Amino acid sequence: MNNSIMNYENLLVQNNDGIVTVTINREKALNALNRQTISELAQFFGTDVYSIENLKGIILTGAGEKSFVAGADISEFQGLSAAEGQMLAQRGQDTFLMIERFHKPVIAAVNGFALGGGCELAMACHLRVASENAKFGQPEVNLGLIPGYGGTQRLIQYIGKTKALELLMTADMITAQDALQLGLVNYVMPVGEAVQKATALIEKIATKAPIAITKVIEAANAYFEENVDGFAAEVNLFGECCSTDDFREGASAFLEKRKPVFSAK
Ligand code: CAA
Repeated sequence: MNNSIMNYENLLVQNNDGIVTVTINREKALNALNRQTISELAQFFGTDVYSIENLKGIILTGAGEKSFVAGADISEFQGLSAAEGQMLAQRGQDTFLMIERFHKPVIAAVNGFALGGGCELAMACHLRVASENAKFGQPEVNLGLIPGYGGTQRLIQYIGKTKALELLMTADMITAQDALQLGLVNYVMPVGEAVQKATALIEKIATKAPIAITKVIEAANAYFEENVDGFAAEVNLFGECCSTDDFREGASAFLEKRKPVFSAK
């Protein structure tokens, strides 16, 4: 029995007062991302999530205590042609971009192995909370591959080219503490407490002006987009915030020495 609010083969979706936990549920395969799971993530982030009322944010995690996601499902790799490989990578990248561009906070609660596509999935989230048993790595070169779901790009964004190239070329795994030191994760928590910390972060963010949060995400993403001037994007988004009720409320509340009541308008 599970209390999933949506019907998927490989995802469990639970709603706890607007904080929605999406659990990749393939524990026997260490939650490896097969095609079906990628399709379900795309279905969730592209469509189904919009039916959830009063959404505060999403927590992405993996079933069990051993693995967040141990990568793309290697059993689906055999006999892939170049064109099929490109399609697989494109589909994964498109799905992960939906997560990165999602208008509410998405936090990865990394409860064990985050390897290959699993590390890439965690990196597509806005924030990452790791359990102290988490291990991160991009082991694709062991398979004669490179990362295909954005790993070569986002790892460099988060930890810089020096260390990223080392991890990409050696296929080494790093511990949660190493990931914290490198700036790959926001927090390291005792085993079993990552979801709790992610929940607390979403609760805190939910007290802020919702439109401003969406625009922070957009502005931060603009920094990494090709042919987009992030500073110009920030100017536009700042201007857009000024036309919201929430801006008027936030500024008035400050001056009146009271707590703001945001309406997301
Ligand atoms: N795909 C498919 N099945 C996987 C898997 C994966 N990525 N990772 C683990 N599994 C399966 C294993 O085959 C095994 O299944 P069986 O019980 O049926 O044999 C089960 O999960 C448990 O795994 P292990 O017995 O290997 O567990 P372990 O504790 O000895 O090792 C591990 C754990 C170090 C994570 C090891 O499973 C491993 O190295 N997994 C592969 C990691 C990897 O290479 N990921 C990158 C995939 S490629 C990719 O992601 C490309 C991309 O960017 C898109």
